[in-house]
Amino acid sequence: MILKSIQNIFHEELKSISTIEEIDSVFYMLIDHFYKVTRIQLALNPEILVENDEPILRALSMLKQQMPVQYIIGESEFYGLNFKVNEYVLIPRPETEELVAWLLNHVNPERKIKILDIGTGSGSIAISLSKHLPQAEIYAMDVSTDALHIARQNADSNAVNVEFIEADILQTTNLKNFKFDVIVSNPPYVREQEKAFMKPNVLDNEPHLALFVKDNNALQFYKAIIHFSKASLNKGGLLFFEINEYLGKEMISLLQENNYTELELKQDIYRKDRMIKGVKS
Ligand SMILES: C[S@@+](CC[C@H](N)C(=O)[O-])C[C@H]1O[C@@H](n2cnc3c(N)ncnc32)[C@H](O)[C@@H]1O
Repeated sequence: MILKSIQNIFHEELKSISTIEEIDSVFYMLIDHFYKVTRIQLALNPEILVENDEPILRALSMLKQQMPVQYIIGESEFYGLNFKVNEYVLIPRPETEELVAWLLNHVNPERKIKILDIGTGSGSIAISLSKHLPQAEIYAMDVSTDALHIARQNADSNAVNVEFIEADILQTTNLKNFKFDVIVSNPPYVREQEKAFMKPNVLDNEPHLALFVKDNNALQFYKAIIHFSKASLNKGGLLFFEINEYLGKEMISLLQENNYTELELKQDIYRKDRMIKGVKS
């Protein structure tokens, strides 16, 4: 079938659940993935024909069932790198790229520092940091064996050295008695009560282990990480968190109560309180 005709079918069949821009963006990802045809090539040659339209039409039926395109093609881009993803890992988000960029602005790439990423998932934060900080020793923790399996593959395919550790941060107060210079985390932070506002593509497909916390204990992971940092973060060390946009004030209080200084709450490009940093005193 001609790719342009398939694009028209996509528009027709997905218009009730997606915007035109979203449909086009997903369609271009799919034709690149399945047929190695780029958006520009299609624009220059709208008559491009594909012999086997079965994979892209199968993808269309998965999209209609609200499966994210990244899970359909099994990969996602983050900080200019390619990451394998599946149902055991969160699809890395643009907000988290902002966290990585912010962190990179605060460390000296020439220094041999130790960094720990807690709740690494696909390894997106740890692996991007490792690419940009070749002198640093990077560690990454997750409680999920299945997530770590993907994260290890991503470290290999991106040719970086990250030490992955399977551990539960809610039960861990130190790792091999290491002291880190930087601890970064994008932990689960969505309250159960927020489920009602979430889109089905996230709610029905992404791992709930990566997303949700109890309404009455929304800062559970931040508290555990701060507790862990008592023994495991060097004095003067940096703590970077991605946070729930509704809990910026609570996060400032939590870090103040624990004597973190030089606190900065930062908004993402959508002007939502999305990340916070502090220095251990
Ligand atoms: C929001 S996801 C972040 C994934 C990745 N760092 C990113 O930013 O795309 C949170 C991660 O925390 C992990 N996690 C959940 N509970 C945990 C626990 N008790 N200890 C360690 N990791 C945990 C999940 O498996 C998931 O990979």
